[in-house]
Amino acid sequence: MSKPLQGRHFIDTQEWTRDELELVLETSSDLKRKFYRDEPHALLRDRTLFMLFWEQSTRTRNSFEAGMTQLGGHAHDLSPEKLQVSHGETAQDTARVLSRMGHGIAIRNCDWGKGNAFIRSVAALSRVPVLNMQCDIFHPCQAVADLMTIREKFPDGLRGRKIAVSWTYAPSYVRPISVPQSTILMMSRFGLDVTLAHPKEFKLMPEILAQAQANAAANGTKFEMVDDMDAAFEGAHIVYPKSWGCLVTEPDRQAAVQHISRYPDWIANEKRMAMAAKDAIYMHPLPASRGQEVTDAVIDGPQSVVWDEAENRLHTAKALMALTM
Ligand code: CP
Repeated sequence: MSKPLQGRHFIDTQEWTRDELELVLETSSDLKRKFYRDEPHALLRDRTLFMLFWEQSTRTRNSFEAGMTQLGGHAHDLSPEKLQVSHGETAQDTARVLSRMGHGIAIRNCDWGKGNAFIRSVAALSRVPVLNMQCDIFHPCQAVADLMTIREKFPDGLRGRKIAVSWTYAPSYVRPISVPQSTILMMSRFGLDVTLAHPKEFKLMPEILAQAQANAAANGTKFEMVDDMDAAFEGAHIVYPKSWGCLVTEPDRQAAVQHISRYPDWIANEKRMAMAAKDAIYMHPLPASRGQEVTDAVIDGPQSVVWDEAENRLHTAKALMALTM
């Protein structure tokens, strides 16, 4: 396997060219075929990935860990309590040590205002590639898996198709803004017209919105913002409704939950799915709050592709590791 991306950090999809991301997608599809045919693909034999999780994870943790096993290597499942980071050892010193012992470092740290900075501090001193498994600003691994899924469902092309990225109600906890931010950045570069919908409190970062606008201008797509979930769903080919916190306008967690609780009607239901295009697909990165973000009838219905989307986290994580490590 030629490895033009060997040694590269993967923190934000904007830092990789379209050709580089195309290579990730091609490699993901190739590894998916090999997985289904049970063909050996031990591209990372005897290699070690250190995974540092500040938060819980089902899809990301298991896609990277299972992926490393399937590629012939091993992943260490680490958290701050298992490391001297919990006693104050710096990101820089942790990076220096781990990068002398293995071949890749993957980090999830969604702490608002700190997560991305931590990952970039590690990357600055790491001798091995650093992969962003979600931070406060980006979730690039989710965006790659989502684009792979969308292409599989619309094999005749994405040009002229609309994706509705909408906020939804879910007051159980304050979710990061990294998924909608990475989604609007990625899809506006790869042929989709993007409509972003949210109540006024749930703004994304202004610089990310500006990048999405610039992506659309450079790639012949559209990027628009609305404050109405119905308007976003109208005619959409892909609906991507999920909850996020009002971190940009109200970082206080308790106050944020108050804001969320004002919008229980922002839910993906059958009525809204009927407003979308006939062949529309329903996506969600998961975990989804059933009955709050989405009805059972929609997430378990014929238009839902969430299980394919979750599975593609495995194939894309493997591609990212195989290409960079
Ligand atoms: N979508 C996603 O990142 O899921 P996890 O939080 O379970 O990893």
